[in-house]
Amino acid sequence: LDRRRASGSLAGRRVLVTAGGTREPLDPVRYLGNRSSGKQGYALAAVAAERGAEVTLVSTASLTPPEGVRVVAVETALELEAAVREGSAGADVVVMAAAVADFRPAEVAAHKIKKTHDGDDDDSAPTVALVRNPDVLAGLVAARGGSSAPVLVGFAAETGDADGSVLEHGRAKLERKGCDVLVVNEVGGGRAFGTDDNTVHVLRRGSADVVDVGPATKTAVSAAVWDVVTDLLPAPT
Ligand code: CTP
Ligand code: CA
Repeated sequence: LDRRRASGSLAGRRVLVTAGGTREPLDPVRYLGNRSSGKQGYALAAVAAERGAEVTLVSTASLTPPEGVRVVAVETALELEAAVREGSAGADVVVMAAAVADFRPAEVAAHKIKKTHDGDDDDSAPTVALVRNPDVLAGLVAARGGSSAPVLVGFAAETGDADGSVLEHGRAKLERKGCDVLVVNEVGGGRAFGTDDNTVHVLRRGSADVVDVGPATKTAVSAAVWDVVTDLLPAPT
């Protein structure tokens, strides 16, 4: 690893990767979550470290950390946002591979929510009110302002539908988000979630080019993503 730190294609670069799905608590024993395994984010971190980068991985997943990678464990979107804010200072690249919950319960019950309350034995169910979580990637785009650093990479799981194809949805999201690269993940039909293989399209803002990858391992997808990102980095100083 030390030799790669000096000579790899990401030598001297500091990168931050987020991985996994956030968990938004409802009460002390329950949360709202999603199916992201974190494997793609871990593979991205591992490949960056192999290529010589200094890597911080902000993660909700309990997978084995790749060699030489610093892991910051988080659970909720708000914790992830704080860890990204701290860890992205001075970073050359931030890759948002985490599936950040768009909403969280407006209130976290202090005690376990019970099926029945005292004296009430009907079949009623509680309603959970949700509030919006901050958009962490949008926050990074805003904080960067007119600067080109750090390079910002988003991930989007998309399905085609009546409004457009996977690629059309991806292009629209890339322009809306204002990041530099969007890795569009084809989902549905048993693809991607929890598996080791992935089919993605790597889009760059302001370019009509698309790099199609897969079905390929998450390590191969990571290599393709870092190839695109490395081209966008300014020459090393
Ligand atoms: N993202 C984020 N903060 C959020 C939601 C998403 O930083 N609160 C990031 C994800 O990590 C990902 C990118 O934004 O890199 C795209 O996420 P996605 O859920 O596809 O986009 P949304 O803008 O939330 O749109 P959608 O309505 O399709 O969920
Ligand atoms: Ca979302």
